[in-house]
Amino acid sequence: MAAALNGMGGDGRSAVRRRPPGPSGERLLGSLREFAADTLGFATRLAREYGEVARFRLVNREAWLLSSPAAVERVLVENQRNYVKHTFFWRKVDAIFGKGLLTNEGEDWRRQRRLVQPAFHHDRIAEYARVMVDYAIDRVDGWRDGEERDIRHEMTSITFRIVSKTLFDSEVAGDVAEIGVAFDTGIEEIARRIRRPVLLPDWVPTKGNRRYRSAVDRMDRLVYRIIAEHRDGRDRGDLLSALMQARDEEGRPMSEEQLRDETITMLLAGHETTALALTWTWYLVSQHPEVAERLEAEADALADGRPGIEDLPRLPFTERVVKESMRLYPPAYSFGREALEDDEILGWPVAAGTTLFVFPWVLHRDARFYSEPLAFAPDRWTAEFERTLPRLAYLPFGAGPRMCIGREFARMELALIVATIAQRFRIEWASERPIPMASITLRPTGGLRAVVRRRG
Ligand code: HEM
Repeated sequence: MAAALNGMGGDGRSAVRRRPPGPSGERLLGSLREFAADTLGFATRLAREYGEVARFRLVNREAWLLSSPAAVERVLVENQRNYVKHTFFWRKVDAIFGKGLLTNEGEDWRRQRRLVQPAFHHDRIAEYARVMVDYAIDRVDGWRDGEERDIRHEMTSITFRIVSKTLFDSEVAGDVAEIGVAFDTGIEEIARRIRRPVLLPDWVPTKGNRRYRSAVDRMDRLVYRIIAEHRDGRDRGDLLSALMQARDEEGRPMSEEQLRDETITMLLAGHETTALALTWTWYLVSQHPEVAERLEAEADALADGRPGIEDLPRLPFTERVVKESMRLYPPAYSFGREALEDDEILGWPVAAGTTLFVFPWVLHRDARFYSEPLAFAPDRWTAEFERTLPRLAYLPFGAGPRMCIGREFARMELALIVATIAQRFRIEWASERPIPMASITLRPTGGLRAVVRRRG
């Protein structure tokens, strides 16, 4: 094997490194055009045609798609220290995320993860259940029976308000709208950057760069001001207070800049994904009236018509619906890593610098793990099914040490919002079937509008 890793045949002749199968693509661009034009279709075809480890080229970058749980385990769990997240994609958006948890690496990341973890302690986030339900009720109170609404917009406004409140507390509610606008601009620019393989550095004054810079500046000003306002030492019960109280082993708090990076990361990571999970859930439920009925019956059975954290064990069907929706439409449809040093994945030698892609979209729709993989079937999620499902065949929140820190927060938020809305409204899709688009997250294009019917 050492010989193969060195690219030398056993007889000493120079040999071509053993490489997984894959398309050769175009001469200069490799598979870039196909990858950019139809990312989901490309990944699906690649896995089907070339198997569990497939190789392709994006211009001069060697990339592999891993579509077996064992291959994914090697990268995200077993030898995860060899696979960094700070890949070519994230480097394009450094100005926004800085060294927040999503993009940080190595010892720095480990220290931060330890510092941030207590802010997501079960008892602390349990306090947020009331906020989640309050804001969902507040939003749908504005809905009129029979009107059309853009469901993605509705869900985003609920989850953005929730993350702002739980992160910063209410005193800054007035700033939320402004942060929202700066964020939208930032997110749009990130989405544009993903699609572009070659990027001019941030300092080049292109129109896109200027827009990006000014959105980042606005976010910075707001977030630094909010941090300053929190300096009175009072624990407001929000996530920022928890981050400010955290101390490492040497008793040091986070720096001002680190607080800024973590806060902006949470704001971004914490609302768009959740809003999309809700949007796809409503889309699927609207296509299956029998599921809508069971969802409503479960929500109606709660004691006082207002879900709370204590009700979560009484919402098993709601949880299965959300789980199944994130199987078919995982908001984080793909994530990537870069190999630091040479390694081996399922017997294939992987060279330092290779980009490894994991597509929950592909794994979640694999007939080896899910019978009738394209069917929306919440009832497949029995305890027995979960026991036999390979561990990494379902990974909407990632896996290994870098698994989503907000997953418990998100699970609670999704179940509570779905139950709150199901008690009050039935959502009927009014437009074309939405097409999943692989942007920074899995967004629906096209049909987003639905008719909301107040329940009797
Ligand atoms: C349905 C909702 C959500 C989904 C689908 C989701 C998905 C993910 C995934 C797949 C990762 C790992 C990415 C990778 O390994 O490359 C991740 C990481 C992360 N998520 Fe989430 N997430 C959700 C909600 C949230 C929320 C509510 C928060 C915070 C309030 C959050 C904060 C983070 C952070 C900080 C990381 C980086 C963790 C680290 O590397 O240490 N996420 N998320």
